[in-house]
Amino acid sequence: MASYQVAVLPGDGIGPEVTREAVRAIHTASNEFGFKVSLEEWPIGGCALDAYDTPFPDATRDACLVSDAVFLGALGGPKWDHETGSRRCEAALLSLRKALGGFANLRPVLVPESLVGSSPLRPERVSGTDLLIVRELTGGIYFGTPRGMTAENACNSMVYSRFEVERIARLAFDLARKRKGILTSVDKANVLEVSQLWRSVVSELHRVEFPDVDLEHLYVDNAAIQLILRPAQFDVIVTANLFGDILSDLAGTLPGSLGILPSATMGGRVGLFEPIHGSAPDIAGKGFANPAGALLSAAMLLETLGERDAGARIRHGIFHSLDRGILTRDLGGTASTTKFGDAVLSSAFERSPSTV
Ligand code: NAD
Ligand code: IPM
Ligand code: MN
Repeated sequence: MASYQVAVLPGDGIGPEVTREAVRAIHTASNEFGFKVSLEEWPIGGCALDAYDTPFPDATRDACLVSDAVFLGALGGPKWDHETGSRRCEAALLSLRKALGGFANLRPVLVPESLVGSSPLRPERVSGTDLLIVRELTGGIYFGTPRGMTAENACNSMVYSRFEVERIARLAFDLARKRKGILTSVDKANVLEVSQLWRSVVSELHRVEFPDVDLEHLYVDNAAIQLILRPAQFDVIVTANLFGDILSDLAGTLPGSLGILPSATMGGRVGLFEPIHGSAPDIAGKGFANPAGALLSAAMLLETLGERDAGARIRHGIFHSLDRGILTRDLGGTASTTKFGDAVLSSAFERSPSTV
């Protein structure tokens, strides 16, 4: 029997609330599909800072490094916002990403027909949206040096090497080839040298290895407006760390809530799976956070481990529940986090997908 070890990092705010549903789904899938999974929880973020005086305890890092996959809820919040440097919750997340080594953060944005009405965009614009943002995750301005701050000045550096651009672009071209064959590379090459290198490396790779993929380049400011004007025309978008962070939150408006967007990080020693939203302090502890992004991340985790049917079943359960109008408040419904999780499990596992 296949057996997997998954490190679970619930984190802060709504992190534990949405993680609970993801864990429940993975457990149920393992019983249903006959594989074994050990899901051990580890502290990260503000809760770790409170308990262990560091947001990223060594024990958490070590447990992640020996696991088959890592699931993260969300971390951070106003209680810890005054912290600086490596005591910041967000720094813990960056250290975790760096330790695991995954450089490609895949953020799919799918707007099912049932959510077209929840989108702030007109139905004819948003209908058919099915795009994938490939965000570079271990480089760029998040990690570049020099960096620092004094009372008078501060600086961060956006740095990319040819090697870093080539490996993320190759992965994105490959994914585009398996989808609709269209890749949009987003940069700021009209201003930044780092983007000029990015653009020339992507163009060269296109010419040499992927001439069959349609490549377009967009400046990031234009990409922001095109995502709203014609979201359904995008297939795969590849971009730098910071641009990908911002554009993926923007893309969260397309289905009507950031709460349903998942992510998977590939290319490192251990895969990392996390919804793209944060700890949502404004709704934490109320029991109505949307767990769909966490559940879709759990589906991606299972698929990456090789449990494709189990992942597909959870994914089906999520979209079927949305189709049935079981919606949390962010999408205009009244379902609690747990009720949505219940609905997903019952449509995923109590009936065969062909009859639902
Ligand atoms: P956020 O993503 O937490 O929230 C933005 C808005 O989206 C809020 O109105 C929130 O209520 C809503 N929202 C987010 N997820 C939702 C869900 N699942 N269901 C329903 N509504 C949801 O962003 P923020 O408020 O800018 O950040 C709060 C904290 O989270 C900060 O400390 C930030 O650094 C951190 N953060 C963590 C991660 C992560 O752990 N991966 C990601 C982003 C932000
Ligand atoms: C995300 C978050 C993180 C990021 C923060 C919390 C470090 O916004 O995963 O999108 O900027 O990468
Ligand atoms: Mn973000």
